[in-house]
Amino acid sequence: MQGLTAELMRGHWYVAMPGAELKRSSFEPKTLLGEPVVIGRRADGSVFALKDHCPHRGIPLRYGRMIGDDVECCYHGWRFNGEGTCTLIPSLTSDQQVEIGKIRCGAYPCVEQQGMIWIFFGEKGEAPGSPPKMPYFDRAPDGYVTMPFECSTDHAAFGLMDPTHAAFVHTSWWFKKDATKLREKEKHFEPCELGWRMKRHKVPARNIAYRPIGKNIETQITYRLPGFRIEEIVSDTHQVVSVTVITPIDEGRTQITQYIWWSMGWAFVLKPLVRRLGRIFIEQDRDVVQQQREGLVHKPRLMLINDADTQARWWMRLKDEWFAHRAEDRPFANPLREQTLRWRS
Ligand code: FES
Ligand SMILES: [Fe+2]
Repeated sequence: MQGLTAELMRGHWYVAMPGAELKRSSFEPKTLLGEPVVIGRRADGSVFALKDHCPHRGIPLRYGRMIGDDVECCYHGWRFNGEGTCTLIPSLTSDQQVEIGKIRCGAYPCVEQQGMIWIFFGEKGEAPGSPPKMPYFDRAPDGYVTMPFECSTDHAAFGLMDPTHAAFVHTSWWFKKDATKLREKEKHFEPCELGWRMKRHKVPARNIAYRPIGKNIETQITYRLPGFRIEEIVSDTHQVVSVTVITPIDEGRTQITQYIWWSMGWAFVLKPLVRRLGRIFIEQDRDVVQQQREGLVHKPRLMLINDADTQARWWMRLKDEWFAHRAEDRPFANPLREQTLRWRS
């Protein structure tokens, strides 16, 4: 937690990228959990993820191209299908017997779900199960914003669950919270699968940003490993789901993506505005971790205070339990208990 890097958690499904950014018959190179990956989409729309090394001489496959549903290496033209199996070695003559089906570049479990491309990063042979489902909407999101952050997943996560930075960081000429007029807040939390949840509660009527969603608005926020903040906002008539996803690029860098789904059919007219505002908010978070980095390089001692940073502590406890249950080969046991937290924000 103290430094510039965070230990990476294996054994989870991670959101690799928004599905909308990957065209048919193409691939995108990415670094995720410190590993180079090629994420591809076949002509039928299905997705796959390969280790980004050619097993012949190790050149990254990203320099190659798609031929049909296969990725062709740029060096000697070997081809690999989405399962990571070699399908062609062009140099072979008809009498040369090479079992090309035994040559593999390596593939990751990869699925597209709710408009997000998910990859499982586990140990060799580990059963992946399925990615977690986001609530309400079984379709692609109505919008998203994605950005790399120059910080570890721990500091990215602390930013996500930090209830008291908004009055100082998320300010603009059109939105300025007066930091001298902070209100006392009291929220109730309970443990849930791989995380915790700010229990469902009413949104105060003075909060005009929520008004287009309808009457009697309630919200609930779930935080869970390996890096999700899932906010459900429901009214008598509508639902909005906002999901922030943290995906480690490597130990010191993090991809942050904000997805949003809504049920208000008319709200498509707001898409450009929502996108713009989402971008501004995320850029403010990104800029502050960039500045924080200038401090962290000198390895200062850091503090987590009650109750404003209690959720950051919970994040670290959940991570510790994640590593412990894998090392000890036993089921994950959520160490958190119901608790009420208070702060001024
Ligand atoms: S290095 Fe890939 S085909 Fe030779
Ligand atoms: Fe923020």
